[in-house]
Parts: sequence; C-alpha cells; structure tokens
Amino acid sequence: MRKHIVAGNWKMNNGLIQTETLISELKKQSKTSDAEVMIAPAFTNLWHAFQSTRQDNIEVVAQNMHFAENGAYTGEVNAGMLKSVGIKTVILGHSERRAYFNETDESLAKKVSQALEHDMRVIFCFGEELEDRKAGNHEAVVKSQLENGLFHLEADAFKHIVLAYEPVWAIGTGETASPEQAQDMHAFIRKTLADKYSAEVADGVSILYGGSVKPNNAKEIFSKPDVDGGLIGGASLKAEDFYAIVNAF
Ligand code: PGA
Repeated sequence: MRKHIVAGNWKMNNGLIQTETLISELKKQSKTSDAEVMIAPAFTNLWHAFQSTRQDNIEVVAQNMHFAENGAYTGEVNAGMLKSVGIKTVILGHSERRAYFNETDESLAKKVSQALEHDMRVIFCFGEELEDRKAGNHEAVVKSQLENGLFHLEADAFKHIVLAYEPVWAIGTGETASPEQAQDMHAFIRKTLADKYSAEVADGVSILYGGSVKPNNAKEIFSKPDVDGGLIGGASLKAEDFYAIVNAF
C-alpha cells in the first residue's frame, strides 16, 4: 500500500515565534486519517521545529539544500547540516526554486543523488507551465523533468522518493487542476515510471498533487486513485485548514 502524505510547504513565511505558535496550533488538531503529516519551515527554524514536534506525528522537512558535500558556497545549506538538526526529508525542485533561483534539471539530479547518499528522503517537485498545457505539451514536459531529474537513479532508490506534481499555473493562484486533470497526469507519471523501471516501482511511489489545495477541494482531489496526497502552500499556514486537508483522506 502506498503511503498517503500531506506536506505543508511554509515557503518564506514564519519567524521563530510564528513557527512556535503554528506548531502549537497544529498539535491541538486531531488527525482522523492515515496520512503522514509533514511541515517545511524555513531553514532557521528547522531545529526548533524538530525539537517541538519529536513527540508528535509531524515530520519536519527542509524546503531545499545544496548538492555539494560542503565548501565555498556562501549562503547555502548541505545535506549533512540538515541531518545534524534531525531532518530526514528534503523538498527539491519546487517550481519557485526552478523559476527564481535558476534550478535546472541537471542541478536537481545532483541534489537528488546527494540527498540519497545521506539517506534522506526526497520530495521531488515538477510540473508544467500554463503555455505547456495550452499547447498540449504538458505530458512531454513532465516526462522530461522526470527523465532529467530522476532517471539516473537505480530502481531501488525510488523507495526514498516521493513525487509532487505541481502544475505551475495552479500554485498560489487559487486555480487548481481539476481532479480529473490531476488523476490523468498522475496516471501518466506512474506509467512513465513503469515503462522505465517496473510496475512494482511505479505502484510503490507516492505521488502528491500540489497547487491551490484547500479544505473545500482536497477530498475530491484525494479521492482519485493515483493521487496519494498533497503538497500544500497557502493553506498549510493555518492549522485548522491544514488538518482539514490532512483529514480529507
Ligand atoms: P499553494 O502552493 O497551495 O499555495 O498553491 C503549493 C506549493 O507551492 O507547493
């Protein structure tokens, strides 16, 4: 059985005090679903968030990391640093990283390998832009993001990979892919994995949907057979909304 996962991507929001407040609100919520819950605060709050949640069923994950082991990369954070503050999972390839920080498929492939070498789990994000969808190229774009970012890996590595399909046109816009569009793309992603590796690999990987998931649309999106969870931006900043989504399974 594939894992259900709901991960909150806090992006560049919440200083230390707000992080503490939101975590204490999250702890008051009750979980009625089988979904794994993750939150991704800013680097500066990871250690504190890790300490505050270690008795709870909330995993603290990072939003990014560098591909190098260490060295002269001013302003960057490596896998070992994340591990040293208790972080075992990292989000890589978010469309905001790709668009504003020039992350390429090539640099992401290196980051993925580096994270796996440090025994970390990766939430690998990808998705097409609006023009790609309008031109009918969305499947080709997604396929090439998967090939270039992940297909250097051995089949076994996919035990440590979670996929997050996030159509760029749906992120922070209030516009979601319809549940059918999400299902079609998730099924296509699974087929792409089955063709490259095996049906077993494809069936074992959790594929999250991201892009304007809210309490009022989560249930329908999560009801689709190939949607195994969500990567939640805006709605993850409110404890009640986030748990309404967690409990939509
Ligand atoms: P959103 O963000 O839920 O605010 O659209 C999703 C994401 O960027 O992961």
